[in-house]
Amino acid sequence: MPVSATMSSKVPDLQLADVQGQAVLLRADFNVPFDKETGEISDDTRIQRTLPTLEYLMREGAKVLLISHVGRPKGQVVESLSMRKPAERLKELLNFPVEFIGDVLDDGAREAFQKGKSQTVYVAENIRFHAEETSKEKSVRKAFAQKIAELGNVYVNDAFGASHRAHASIVELAEILPHYAGKLLKQEIDVLESLLTSPKRPLTAVIGGAKISTKIGVLEFLLNKVDTILIGGAMAYTFLKARALEVGNSMVETDYLSKAFQIVDKADYKQVRLELPIDHIASTEFSEKGKIKTMGREIAPGYMGMDIGPKTADKYSKIIRESATVFWNGPMGVFEMDKFAKGTLAIAKAMAKVKGTTVVGGGDSVYAVKKAGVADKMTHISTGGGATLEFMEGKVLPGIEALLSE
Ligand code: 3PG
Repeated sequence: MPVSATMSSKVPDLQLADVQGQAVLLRADFNVPFDKETGEISDDTRIQRTLPTLEYLMREGAKVLLISHVGRPKGQVVESLSMRKPAERLKELLNFPVEFIGDVLDDGAREAFQKGKSQTVYVAENIRFHAEETSKEKSVRKAFAQKIAELGNVYVNDAFGASHRAHASIVELAEILPHYAGKLLKQEIDVLESLLTSPKRPLTAVIGGAKISTKIGVLEFLLNKVDTILIGGAMAYTFLKARALEVGNSMVETDYLSKAFQIVDKADYKQVRLELPIDHIASTEFSEKGKIKTMGREIAPGYMGMDIGPKTADKYSKIIRESATVFWNGPMGVFEMDKFAKGTLAIAKAMAKVKGTTVVGGGDSVYAVKKAGVADKMTHISTGGGATLEFMEGKVLPGIEALLSE
């Protein structure tokens, strides 16, 4: 199904639901990162961004069973991926009672929810502890969803970040119960859809990251939508190599050289301005300990590109500042190493100066705008990683499609 200009108006709005005294099954995306050393939540953005939906449901007098996944436990119980910590964090943030009740199929947990009170959020254990949640067999997912559906009478999807997954709690649960889009999901659809259908121009897309293979879909789709594409990150070296430039030891996806060439060609044909880095920060090692040099268009043998250079950062920043709408996904270099973070931080700062609309999607670029201290200057920070990319490829996400049907 192609993107339609009215997708946002078609998803059933939560305001239309009568949830007073109802048992609402809310699928959220509380898949938050944990600090490797302390085990504590290192970024609670996804929890914070679900608060408007939860507060609304609480004020309206609903009883909520909050269902989410954390990580990829592959159908096993993995203690470090429990929903206990996200539930504790929610308890600190929400002005209504929050209780962790455990597994959705556990009799005690089910009874606790069934006997539970209105205006209370009951948090279920990681739904991916059940292999049925992610089963490839629709009938298996459906039977699992059926057991969950017995607990409630309304389904709300607020898990934009997981809506590209055809999983039981995202698709089949919506097929069984009356379904609505939560406030976060609605906001994500509104903003991303308007970027694709009615953006103020010039519209610039900044696309970075390590692998061109994961960005082909979005690049091809955006070629029909944007005025300018700025390429950065390691994927730029595949583009440069495709144009017969020397890239030294830089990461190149050789299987994608002809695809990269086609994209440059197509941009030319469509009169989309596609910019590649004109200089680089290169190193002899994939670490901050190697010999580091700023290089021009080409990278000398023995060196690998680690970040865009200062001339590219200036050029890209100027184009960004002069745009009316900017969408950014993917870092410009290995920004987790301080010596190679300048290019990515320059983009974040330029985004903060845009007078129009700025949208950031994907975990790494979101982290970069936070690191640069400009997160509050962005119009919208998407909570999706893969989901945002797939949306920007023009796909209708399975979780959204399930809400669109009767
Ligand atoms: C995400 O973090 O992108 C979502 O929570 C989906 O997680 P997944 O890629 O493990 O399905």
